[in-house]
Amino acid sequence: MSPDPLTHLYSREALCAQPSAIRDICALVAKPEVRSLAGGWPDPAKFPLKAIRRIFDKLITQHGARLFQYGSTEGLAELREVLADRMKTGGMADVDPDSLIITHGSAQGMHLAAQVFIDREDVVFVGLPTYFGGPGAVRSRSGKVIGIPVDDDGLNVDSLRLEATRLKASGKRVKGVYVIPNFQNPTGVTLSLERRRQLVRLAEIHDLVIFEDDPYGELRFEGDPLPSLKSLDRSGRVIHLRSLSKTFVPGLRLGWAAGDSGAIRQMVVAKQFADAATNTPAQYILLEFIRQGLLDKQIQDNIKFYRSKRDFMLEQMERYFPDEVTWNRPQGGFFIFVQIPGDMDAADLFRQAVAKNVAFVTGQSFFVDGSGHNTLRLSYAQAGHQDIEFAIRKIGNLIKAHLMDRKTNNAA
Ligand SMILES: Cc1ncc(COP(=O)(O)O)c(C=O)c1O
Repeated sequence: MSPDPLTHLYSREALCAQPSAIRDICALVAKPEVRSLAGGWPDPAKFPLKAIRRIFDKLITQHGARLFQYGSTEGLAELREVLADRMKTGGMADVDPDSLIITHGSAQGMHLAAQVFIDREDVVFVGLPTYFGGPGAVRSRSGKVIGIPVDDDGLNVDSLRLEATRLKASGKRVKGVYVIPNFQNPTGVTLSLERRRQLVRLAEIHDLVIFEDDPYGELRFEGDPLPSLKSLDRSGRVIHLRSLSKTFVPGLRLGWAAGDSGAIRQMVVAKQFADAATNTPAQYILLEFIRQGLLDKQIQDNIKFYRSKRDFMLEQMERYFPDEVTWNRPQGGFFIFVQIPGDMDAADLFRQAVAKNVAFVTGQSFFVDGSGHNTLRLSYAQAGHQDIEFAIRKIGNLIKAHLMDRKTNNAA
């Protein structure tokens, strides 16, 4: 391949940026014959096409060409009002339309937040493992990410306290924490109430911003919802990021961020230079979808749908995985995280699985320190029951074959 002729002109951030390994895996396995548990995309079978068509027709008749005009950078006023009201009923009493910005997905929310808060060398803590969006946004500002272990109760706040103290003592500028509190991507675990309280307290003590990324919280299959970090915070230091990708449709690219109104104003300024405004017709469609009571129905429907897929996948794992493999039982969201025996490498298992037309994501892609070689993320979101059964059986058989080989080698 000829060298890229403009490399010498690239920014330092562009030169350091890595493409998402997960996107690469999904592209690699996007063949019809592959049964994929890789993507974290919602199942298109649940996209409310008829309702969207009906609403879109109505909107064109009602608004005409205005529907396709630029909108305000912060987003449609009526939609911000409706979303602020929804957040109030969700326990976030202090949210009003001025402390909320509509974004192109929560990915853009995180990106804008990083632009507002992160300078070169600023440190942000992230889960080990974590979804790549938070670390990517921080690195795009030349900030540093430091991994903090995630266990069954979510991000380990005691480890975070020790790291924050240590780094501050060594003169580092510790700025924030990126956390996915509900049904985390990739582990599926939820941050416990006690840890939520501890984290908010710790952020006050160390003067940190909390980037609370919550695209899955509304897809809770069982148990009571826990208060958001934003609702526990009294000092305006939580930027709460939301997404419509998992509860409505991802392709309209809709999300929002809520926080202190000053910080949100700064995010609005950053957005002016990013893309001027969020897609106008998409915002109107969402507004109408919510006003007709369809979003709440859609969420309830999605909960039933994904709960039954989770249950099915867990049953298959019990059936086909050997005792040496462990995993968790997520209470919502899209993901199950799996530990395979420590002498196995998930990247090898992935290659063997792809040869059998099965795909998943290797867990290592989610560890900012490169650890997690013996972990996998399995998603039940997009695959049908047959594909789930096939894929879990094949993965189970490959692991069993490895264990047999090990036994034979040990005996020899
Ligand atoms: C934790 C997390 N945050 C953000 C996103 C991106 O969401 P959006 O489509 O709203 O940009 C995802 C998508 O998979 C995610 O898992």
